[in-house]
Amino acid sequence: MPAVIRGRTAAMTTAEQPTVPLAGDARMPLLGFGTWLATGEAGYDAVLAALDAGYRHIDTATMYGNEREVGRAIKESGLRREDIFLTTKLPPDRVGRERQTLEASLSALDTDYVDLWLIHWPPSAAGSIPVWRELLAARDENLTRTVGVSNYSVSQIDELIQATEETPAVNQIRWSPSLYDRRTHAAHRDRGVVLEGYSPFKASDLSDPVLTRIAAAHDVSPAQVVLRWHIDHEIVVIPKSVTPERIRVNADVFRFSLTAEEMRDIDALGG
Ligand SMILES: NC(=O)c1ccc[n+]([C@@H]2O[C@H](COP(=O)([O-])OP(=O)(O)OC[C@H]3O[C@@H](n4cnc5c(N)ncnc54)[C@H](OP(=O)(O)O)[C@@H]3O)[C@@H](O)[C@H]2O)c1
Repeated sequence: MPAVIRGRTAAMTTAEQPTVPLAGDARMPLLGFGTWLATGEAGYDAVLAALDAGYRHIDTATMYGNEREVGRAIKESGLRREDIFLTTKLPPDRVGRERQTLEASLSALDTDYVDLWLIHWPPSAAGSIPVWRELLAARDENLTRTVGVSNYSVSQIDELIQATEETPAVNQIRWSPSLYDRRTHAAHRDRGVVLEGYSPFKASDLSDPVLTRIAAAHDVSPAQVVLRWHIDHEIVVIPKSVTPERIRVNADVFRFSLTAEEMRDIDALGG
């Protein structure tokens, strides 16, 4: 049954969304909705519009200052909490106050748990392992279903694994066709770390002739090609918009797919 939000039928249900398995039994939708700079009523409206358009994965952070609006939009969407994958992030300046920070996030988001809690950036070398242990403890107490990192290098991930024998479920890093690096992608895959890309548009030239040619061939926009390219690589992508039409179009990326040759041409933009 399609989900009904505010009397309208959503474009996609959770079951129809491609997902990637994480540790345990969690599954993360490959398409998420970014919320950096989507604050106040505009942030609330954007998240509600995103849920209406079919996104079932929302990315926020303590630092974004919009957890209250995100939580309110999720509540008022009428969707079940368990049908939404919710990520928030710990700022590294909260070293020593990790638990209070997560509790504040849960309170603002009006939920008992998040699906993914990330360290937003690597803390200082001395802080990294203790902070990671705090995330693991929160996961063991079911305050978050999974834990991961953001803006980590592969060697920084290896340090966490070596110290704790626990692998981050996800590393969220800046990613786009022009940043494509086969070896970095493979290094994450080899360790069982899901690669999640941020700033897919800001890090892209949407007027690049390769993207415009492929977009024209599928009768879609270059932005949609960029998103589909992530998904076909099984890289999680979290476009942000506060513009209702863009929110809708950015979610409309499941009616076409890219050929192997098109994927190679886009990969080559990474040099
Ligand atoms: N972990 C980290 O350190 C980190 C860092 C950066 C971002 N992130 C996460 O990743 C999310 C996405 O990254 P981002 O917000 O930096 O950048 P982005 O999603 O690449 O780009 C957002 C910008 O693109 C515009 N846009 C949206 N859809 C478009 C379309 N179809 N065509 C052309 N322009 C379009 C938006 O404008 P309008 O809003 O005006 O429509 C906005 O200006 C963030 O919101 C955040 O959740 C994480």
